[in-house]
Amino acid sequence: MAPGIPHFVQRLRARARRALDGIFFRLAERNLADLAIARVLTELEAQGPIRDTAQAVQILSGCLGAQPARIVMRASRAGIDSQAARRFDSTLRTLRAGVPGLTTATSVRFAQLAQELLADRTPVENELYHFDVGRHFAQSASKGPKGRILTALVRGMRAERCLELGTQYGASAFFLLEAQRDTGVLPDLTSVEGFEPMVGISRRILESRFSDGLRLLHGDKRKCLDELAQESRRFDLVFHDAGHIGADYLEDFAALDPLLKSGALLVLDDIRTDYSDRLDDPRVREVSCYDAWRRIAAHSRVERAVELNDTIGIALLA
Ligand SMILES: C[S@@+](CC[C@H](N)C(=O)[O-])C[C@H]1O[C@@H](n2cnc3c(N)ncnc32)[C@H](O)[C@@H]1O
Repeated sequence: MAPGIPHFVQRLRARARRALDGIFFRLAERNLADLAIARVLTELEAQGPIRDTAQAVQILSGCLGAQPARIVMRASRAGIDSQAARRFDSTLRTLRAGVPGLTTATSVRFAQLAQELLADRTPVENELYHFDVGRHFAQSASKGPKGRILTALVRGMRAERCLELGTQYGASAFFLLEAQRDTGVLPDLTSVEGFEPMVGISRRILESRFSDGLRLLHGDKRKCLDELAQESRRFDLVFHDAGHIGADYLEDFAALDPLLKSGALLVLDDIRTDYSDRLDDPRVREVSCYDAWRRIAAHSRVERAVELNDTIGIALLA
């Protein structure tokens, strides 16, 4: 301890120094990301006119540069020393240090995909939504921040066979397939969507970009899960993004259980979805999304369960 300076002043000084270091680090990261965005914009422009530059910058800033992650451990079984557990723990350490940005090539391709969808004025009219594809995509589809998390999970776990429930317009499917390609495993994704116009649009968006490894199943998720069970398909990673209702989480988990390999990841999106404005629906009243996630996290087959940024639940299965 420096002589003459009270201990609490030294502690305060050390804390202030750490806070300043953090700010400078984030500014430096931001600067790097801004440089990368400018460079990628030029590349994007070379492929064709940019329809809305502000929108393109927003899309690219979600893809590039560092992104902090807040991770809360919900369940961790001691003494598990499988290869999957080691991969998972090391993936979490990577995420804690900041979710890596996407590559330039993937960012350019995603910005092109986003431009195409943002310009689409096909009407979307369903129980929950009345507008058009462009707006719906802007509001509810995965973008860079979710894409880079899926990418880190595929890469960290070397997920060879992926399943997605809820293709919507194909954004998260795009990230999963790009991640497999970037990791060096053969792309292999089965993705399920039940509704139009998403069924037709996602087929166009994805099939024009990926010739191999993509299987789109169009129909209700339960029917599709039954079909997959009959084929004895097993998956390394399942991204659940269709039906953010607690009762659905629990029923889907039961249907997914036999489809998940030992060491597989189950990734549940939007675990804190709050449908308290839809309490007239008995299925919504049954159990909240978050409580259903907590029950899954406590299931005997779950070796590790973490919450990422308060929105994504990730379970590693024995
Ligand atoms: C939140 S969106 C998916 C977003 C997409 N995964 C992404 O990240 O870009 C949910 C999708 O699930 C679909 N869906 C909801 N319930 C379904 C069901 N029972 N069967 C099949 N698809 C369903 C909806 O039509 C919607 O397109």
